Amino acid sequence: MSPLLSVKNLSTHFSLENRKIYAVRNLSFDLKKGETFGIVGESGCGKSVMVKSLSRLLPSEVATISSGEILYKGQDLLKKSQKEIRSFLGKEMGMIFQDPMTSLNPTIKIGKQVGEGYRIHYPRAKKDEIKQRVIKLLTQLDIPDAKSRYNQYAHELSGGMRQRVMIAIATVAKPQILIADEPTTALDVTIQAKILDSLKKIQQKEGMSIIFVTHDLSLVSSFCDRVAVMYAGEIVEIAPTQDLFNSPRHPYTRSLIDAVPRIDTPRENPLYMIQGTPPDLSLKPPGCHFAKRCQHARKECFVKKPSLFSVKKNQMTRCWLHGKKG
Ligand SMILES: Nc1ncnc2c1ncn2[C@@H]1O[C@H](COP(=O)(O)OP(=O)(O)O)[C@@H](O)[C@H]1O
Ligand SMILES: [Mg+2]
Repeated sequence: MSPLLSVKNLSTHFSLENRKIYAVRNLSFDLKKGETFGIVGESGCGKSVMVKSLSRLLPSEVATISSGEILYKGQDLLKKSQKEIRSFLGKEMGMIFQDPMTSLNPTIKIGKQVGEGYRIHYPRAKKDEIKQRVIKLLTQLDIPDAKSRYNQYAHELSGGMRQRVMIAIATVAKPQILIADEPTTALDVTIQAKILDSLKKIQQKEGMSIIFVTHDLSLVSSFCDRVAVMYAGEIVEIAPTQDLFNSPRHPYTRSLIDAVPRIDTPRENPLYMIQGTPPDLSLKPPGCHFAKRCQHARKECFVKKPSLFSVKKNQMTRCWLHGKKG
C-alpha cells in the first residue's frame, strides 16, 4: 500500500543577519494510514521546524524550504498555493501544539471555536449538525458534561481540558493526519496519560494517522508504532518502536534511552546525562554530527558523513558502526 504521506529530502533553513541555521537537513520518511509515528530528539534538534515545514506554517521572512517533496496522496504540498494549503489544513491535516492558552481565543465560547473548523470545511452543514458534531467530539474526548462546556470560555477550563479542546479543534473536520507537537508537555504525567488515551480513541474511531513529536522518549514507547530519532536536523535512526527500545543501534538513541530515569535505579546513582553540548545548527561538519559527543567515535567518523544504513527489516541507522565506509 502506498504511504499516505511521503517526505523526501526535506531541508529547511533560517537566514539570520549573520548566519544560516540549517534546522532540517535532507530528511525523508513515510507515514502510513492509521499509524502513529513518533519524532523524538533533544530540544532544538529541529522537530518543530520539521512539522511546521509539513504544514507550511513557518515565518516566510526568515524560513526557506530549500529542497524536497512532501507528497500527500501523491501530490506535492510544496507546490500548493497558500490558498490551497489553507483549505488543506484542518480538512486533511490537523495540528495541536504545546500551549493551548495561546492558541485558544479567550473571548469566544469553546463550542464555537471547535465548530468553526467544521463550518469552514463543510460549508453546507447546518448549525444544529455542527453543534451535535462538537458535543459528540468533546464527549469522545472525555470532557465531562460537554453540553454545558460548549458555552464556556477557555479561562473556565483546567489546563488538561483546554488541551482536550485543542485536540477537538484539530480533529473536528476529520483530518487524515494529525500532527501533535509536544501536545502534553505542559501537563502533569497523570493528565498526560489520560489525554493520550482519549487521543488514541479518536484515532481508532476515525482511522487517522498521527505524527507525534516529543522530547520525552517514555511517551513514545507507549504511544507510537514507529519512531524516528532526530539529531541536528537529521533522522539518525528510524525503527518500529519495540525494535528501537529493544535494540537501539545509534549511540545517540542509546544515550536517549539511558537518559530516561528508571524507577529501579538506586537513589545514590547519578542521573545519566548525554555528555557534551547540543550541536550548533549553523555548522555543516563533514562527518557525523554526533561524533563529538560519541564514545564510539573513530577518526573516520569526523571525516565522512554516514548515510542511513539498514540494520534489519524496517530499522535504519545513520552510524558508521553499522555501515561500510566507501
Ligand atoms: N523563527 C525562527 N527563527 C530562527 N531560528 C529558528 C526559528 N524557529 C526555530 N529556529 C531554530 O531552529 C532550530 C530548531 O528548532 P525547533 O525545531 O524549534 O527545535 P525542537 O522543536 O526540536 O525543540 C533551533 O536552532 C532554533 O533556534
Ligand atoms: Mg519543538
